[in-house]
Amino acid sequence: MAKRIQLASTGGPEVLEFIDFTPAEPGAGEVRVRNQAVGLNFIDIYVRTGLYPVPSLPSGLGTEGAGVVDAVGEGVTHLKVGDRVAYAQGPLGAYGELHTLPAEKVVCLPDGVDVETAAASMLKGLTVQYLLRQTYPLQGGETILFHAAAGGVGSIACQWAKSLGVKLIGTVSSPEKAALAEKNGAWATIDYTKENVVERVRELTGGAMVDVVYDSVGKDTWEMSLDCLKKRGLMVSFGNASGPVEGVNIGILNQKGSLFVTRPSLNGYADTRERLEAMSEELFAMLESGKISIDIGQRFALADAAKAQEALAARQTTGSTILVP
Ligand SMILES: NC(=O)c1ccc[n+]([C@@H]2O[C@H](COP(=O)([O-])OP(=O)(O)OC[C@H]3O[C@@H](n4cnc5c(N)ncnc54)[C@H](OP(=O)(O)O)[C@@H]3O)[C@@H](O)[C@H]2O)c1
Repeated sequence: MAKRIQLASTGGPEVLEFIDFTPAEPGAGEVRVRNQAVGLNFIDIYVRTGLYPVPSLPSGLGTEGAGVVDAVGEGVTHLKVGDRVAYAQGPLGAYGELHTLPAEKVVCLPDGVDVETAAASMLKGLTVQYLLRQTYPLQGGETILFHAAAGGVGSIACQWAKSLGVKLIGTVSSPEKAALAEKNGAWATIDYTKENVVERVRELTGGAMVDVVYDSVGKDTWEMSLDCLKKRGLMVSFGNASGPVEGVNIGILNQKGSLFVTRPSLNGYADTRERLEAMSEELFAMLESGKISIDIGQRFALADAAKAQEALAARQTTGSTILVP
């Protein structure tokens, strides 16, 4: 037996139950990981509330964790019992002491990356890898707008953009969050709860506006984000912290300057073993070189996952949050 967080129905934080369960034996091509740290992500809230469909109920929750390989199924050649590993994709159930998942989703950790750092950065760091290096391959010299710059994904994006020589303008909701984003390398910050973002972007860029907007806030920022772009700029809408963007008239892209828009996801980029390995290697190199350091702003016991999700949804967290089994 082991412990995990389970939901019998979708809904508020109260649907999360901390229960005993019998972890699955790994089948062919699978491994079981003994989690030492679990990553908390906003996506877990979308799943809990039902915004993103749960394949079946009752269900585990979470897709990000790190620890050691506990058992290996038939045909798995790249992992053995005892290996230090991390993962950010695969079936729901990372919120648990043990998690069984396809071995192709699991990567070995280099010596220089500890398990807490890995659990706090696999999903968020791989996301920043594809956003800054693939969705729009930044070359250095660009100016970009990145919303929620003091959050988990945002804190990594600030550091990665700085190391690429990119001017990142980060939006935040408080002076404390502004200071954190700037410490992480944001070139400038805007408090989007108080300031006029479009006007501030205009001032900061001398009227030029930005090449790319990375928007994970969704409903509340969609239109304002489009207004911050240069002609033919790229709008990357990659999350829904304030609710999903709906009912878009595609003609708005014409009216606001022949804009491009994309709605990417990690699973759409790390979709093969080769791509996952290449993206992970790049992330680990950034961590090992010290160009990116992971700020674990909060730690919660796994049993307190509901409290952790409440804090994340209430904008009370900064940087990454981990759950400790
Ligand atoms: N598509 C993908 O592949 C992918 C992968 C990973 C994450 N994401 C998305 O990236 C975003 C960041 O994820 P994360 O786990 O690192 O979370 P996070 O950034 O640590 O937390 C979300 C932040 O969004 C901001 N926010 C703005 N309006 C909000 C509202 N109405 N309610 C709650 N928060 C609001 C808050 O920052 P302020 O207080 O500063 O406003 C909050 O701290 C999420 O939207 C997530 O879904 C997408």
